[in-house]
Amino acid sequence: MKILVTGGAGFIGSNFIRLLLVKYPEHKIINFDKLTYAGNLENLADLANLPNYSFIKGDICDSENVMEAISDVDAIVNFAAESHVDRSIKSATPFVSANVYGTQVLLDCAREKGVSRFIHISTDEVGGSLEPGDYLDENSRLYPSSPYAASKAAAEHFVYAARHTHGLDTVMTRTCNNYGPYQFPEKLIPLMIANALENKPLPVYGDGLQVRDWIYVEDNCEALYQVLINGRSGEIYNIGSRAEKNNLEVIETILKLLDRSKDLITFVADRPGHDRRYGINPSKIEQELGWKPEVSFEQGLKKTIDWYLNNQTWLERTRSGVYREYYQEMYGERALLK
Ligand code: NAD
Ligand code: TYD
Repeated sequence: MKILVTGGAGFIGSNFIRLLLVKYPEHKIINFDKLTYAGNLENLADLANLPNYSFIKGDICDSENVMEAISDVDAIVNFAAESHVDRSIKSATPFVSANVYGTQVLLDCAREKGVSRFIHISTDEVGGSLEPGDYLDENSRLYPSSPYAASKAAAEHFVYAARHTHGLDTVMTRTCNNYGPYQFPEKLIPLMIANALENKPLPVYGDGLQVRDWIYVEDNCEALYQVLINGRSGEIYNIGSRAEKNNLEVIETILKLLDRSKDLITFVADRPGHDRRYGINPSKIEQELGWKPEVSFEQGLKKTIDWYLNNQTWLERTRSGVYREYYQEMYGERALLK
């Protein structure tokens, strides 16, 4: 199968491409990415010369870019997005552009070119904040409350509409919070690891008792592959790990594993509109596709910390934004590498 992966230079997209190239090498992969601040080709540098991998620098909002890239692809997996809630609070417009408009452009192009399968990557955040004991099911009502979540929920509606109106073969996934190698150090876990390594304060929003379900990124990518191959057309699949933790528990575990003092914990002003808890019910994917996460939170966090310890150059370069200038110089505005 020839698969176009949008956002493949970002955190989950690059882990997904890595899984495919290493474990399922029968597929041809095109990585289509705009290389925003969050996109980094270093994430796949060791695999970039494989004959079944190619990279196209392009924007999902630009239909010409997309039409050229998808001419004979069998499937599109759409990871491309603005993904950080704090940035969406500062400015929501780029989120509407990439996450909503960009998704619609992809849907239009997929329909025009007759692409067989469209996998759209969404999030448990579309369900909004949940009370303890409540879980988001595939058919729950959506109550997104951050600008990021609102843009992801809007995109879901357009994907549903493309299926309902035009019969496009779409499948959607909603995943809980991912962590693991190659995550941009603005999200909770890599930021806390990076700051702890430099003995810098760890900023905890509000009381730090907000709850997330944490999944190791490789478990999520395996689930996404199962959905791509075996997911039923028109369905939504929740992907969760049943590993709910509050933020302080996560941060204290990181400090313990890195042998750093709890004194680094610094309580700061809360995030406006901060969602207290997300909780997702993954029973459907477990029962229908036989998928289950394999990495416990403790194992995954240890693997993640080891990865950041062994990749401090990546971390420093990512923190300083060096690679962005490097790739801009290397590829210019738009480049077709293979
Ligand atoms: P990320 O920010 O690490 O990567 C996003 C990638 O998309 C980057 O490589 C960026 O360059 C690219 N991109 C952005 N706008 C683009 C555009 N207009 N055209 C082409 N490429 C563009 O994000 P991530 O954490 O890897 O998340 C990937 C997807 O998974 C997103 O759709 C996100 O909403 C979803 N998701 C993430 C999580 C999580 O915990 N990180 C959880 C659930 C769902
Ligand atoms: P984040 O990684 O931004 O993911 P999301 O908001 O999409 O779940 O944040 C995870 C949790 O950690 C969330 O409750 C906000 C909190 N947080 C902090 O307390 N301090 C920080 O510096 C960051 C980035 C997040």
